[in-house]
Amino acid sequence: MSHKKFSWMTLSFVLVLVLALTACGGGVAETEDVEPADVTEATEAPEATEAPLAEGDQVEVFSWWTGGGEAAGLEAMIEVFAVEYPDIEFVNAAVAGGAGTNARAVLATRLQAGDPPDSWQGHAGQELIGTYVAANQLEPLNFLYEQEGWLEVMPETLIPLISQDGNIYSVPVNIHRANVLWYNPAILEANGIAVPTTLDEWFAAMDVLQGTDVIPLALGEQWTVMHLYETVMLASLGPDAYNGLWDGTTAWDSAEVLAALEDFERILAYTNADSSSLTWQDAAQLVVNGDAAFNVMGDWAEGYFRELGMEPNVDYGWAAVPGTGGTFQFLSDSFVLPVSAPHRDASIAWLTTAGSRAGQEAFNPVKGSICARTDCDPALFGVYLQSAMDDWASNIVVGSLTHGVVANDSWKVEIDNALGVFLAERNIEGFQAALTAACSSSGPCP
Ligand code: GAL
Repeated sequence: MSHKKFSWMTLSFVLVLVLALTACGGGVAETEDVEPADVTEATEAPEATEAPLAEGDQVEVFSWWTGGGEAAGLEAMIEVFAVEYPDIEFVNAAVAGGAGTNARAVLATRLQAGDPPDSWQGHAGQELIGTYVAANQLEPLNFLYEQEGWLEVMPETLIPLISQDGNIYSVPVNIHRANVLWYNPAILEANGIAVPTTLDEWFAAMDVLQGTDVIPLALGEQWTVMHLYETVMLASLGPDAYNGLWDGTTAWDSAEVLAALEDFERILAYTNADSSSLTWQDAAQLVVNGDAAFNVMGDWAEGYFRELGMEPNVDYGWAAVPGTGGTFQFLSDSFVLPVSAPHRDASIAWLTTAGSRAGQEAFNPVKGSICARTDCDPALFGVYLQSAMDDWASNIVVGSLTHGVVANDSWKVEIDNALGVFLAERNIEGFQAALTAACSSSGPCP
């Protein structure tokens, strides 16, 4: 796909996403009137100093990319940084644990103690705006967008999700897809199973495998259960009603939400009993090892499969989670400039690399994501990521819950607690009541 076509297609679905996401409660709505034109004028933050960086300067960058293709992606971007800023030592402060579950707890403690790293990984959307920006922990970056010409190359889709009151607060490095069904092609073929496209087809496919040696659906620790939950909610409700969960227009106590929760409960019956002790990598690996037929995971799993030496369309196949075809449930990793960054200029240098074409072209093909920038060379990417680029440019785009787009931290924590109780007790009415209460206390519901 040519860059030009990509940009035009990107522009054409901006409206769809803005309609889908800007009315969101808990904060996305507050960002809806941000116009890129205002954005460059809004900030009064001081610019990077012109003085050369001092020798021995360093930048401490915090993330949760410690393995599984993610660390390799980060390393590739660090290499670009090292060439561009040879005088700055890169201090990798990554904390292990998928979806940042551990890292974000460590970060919160550090922020509370007034000890921020120079930059950290955060998700575009409510995690950023409704959490860090709401707590006045970040400096606006409009000056850097202006200096680097990023408003020309970052998708307009993303700008409202990282902005508040005309200020832009992060540098997105990628676009990930959450609603991906990974499958083992040999297992499907041996059992006469076609790749399912609807929830009913998926249930029927997994019925064939239930009771055999093959796990129908590999699952990991609790955040991966929330990840599965959000994709099944999307499948069952469809994109409009799914979006309505986050702006208060879909009632959490409605019959359609109950039906979606029942679908989710039904799916859980096909999963491995030891899920709570498995990381996302463990669960994904069950598919490529031939122990499980399916796994639902974001496309960082593809970076992991490739790191394991697996071949696309041979060792693993992919499709939209059944029932979500035509919808791209997205998230975006982005880096921030904290207020009182210990090494502010070095942090700006890191952000400059993170937002650059060279940085993103090095990082994303390895990480298993597509560039946030619209001008990366598609030829650098493998067959899965090229298909993700096409879908990102043509699908309806909705946001992820587990990865920070649609709900701020307090709402997400309440949903996670409700999920934990449900997993222990399997009381679906109680689950629905707790989700309804969470929307009232932390979301836009009355
Ligand atoms: C997400 C993050 C991805 C990947 C994943 C698994 O929250 O956005 O980049 O790291 O967690 O750890």
